Amino acid sequence: MENTPDPRIIVALDVPGAQEALALAARLPAARCRLKVGKELFVAAGPALVEQLVQGGHGVFLDLKFHDIPNTVAQACVAAARLGVWMINVHAAGGTRMMRAAREAIEAAPRRPKLVAVTVLTSLSVEDVAELGFGEAPATLALRWAALARDSGLDGVVCSAQEAGALRGRFGPGFDLVTPGIRPPDAATDDQSRVATPAAAVRAGATYLVIGRPITRAADPAQALAAIQAQLDFPATGEPS
Ligand code: C5P
Repeated sequence: MENTPDPRIIVALDVPGAQEALALAARLPAARCRLKVGKELFVAAGPALVEQLVQGGHGVFLDLKFHDIPNTVAQACVAAARLGVWMINVHAAGGTRMMRAAREAIEAAPRRPKLVAVTVLTSLSVEDVAELGFGEAPATLALRWAALARDSGLDGVVCSAQEAGALRGRFGPGFDLVTPGIRPPDAATDDQSRVATPAAAVRAGATYLVIGRPITRAADPAQALAAIQAQLDFPATGEPS
């Protein structure tokens, strides 16, 4: 398999501390995957770990889902960009002024990270969204917020593979769709409910696939990553090998 210049697989480092994260990173080739640092790991291990992962050669998605007033989010994005990360994210629910401020603030960064938005959290049910006072169904709201993110100059959105087809159809190529909830055909679903296989997610239009436990809990994470990558190495209209 050739080295991929723009690895599509983002491995979610959902581990409690720096030691576990660095041990995993050491086993995962930087040419084949990026790494996602979320709230648990960031709160435990901080910016120093992020910098170590970046220095180790991995592209890092700092998944802190900023949501605050525009100035605060913009400055948080500037601080994240200084760490040299590849991707950061904000909540679209912060509104277009917040998203625009974030996008403009990182424009001058020496290596501008990609900036994507979380739309409607997939953990929210139809009832939850109604209870919050929104008059639209979650899927309609997600599409509306994705359009706001695109119009605010963001690079893409985080979405489920189930939503990817509609979003790709609406926004065309060039808008990044980052999809969690990915499970190889033979893997346990864990606590995910609406899962898609890696190949199905890519066929639906996903740009990047966030995959955690099927790789991080495998006896051989590098081999699990390679096996998933192999499922993506097929012509766009063909079937996975
Ligand atoms: O282990 P697993 O593959 O389920 O990990 C998926 C990762 O994607 C986790 O870090 C999880 O927090 C994140 N995520 C998700 N669903 C969303 C948004 C993020 O599973 N809607």
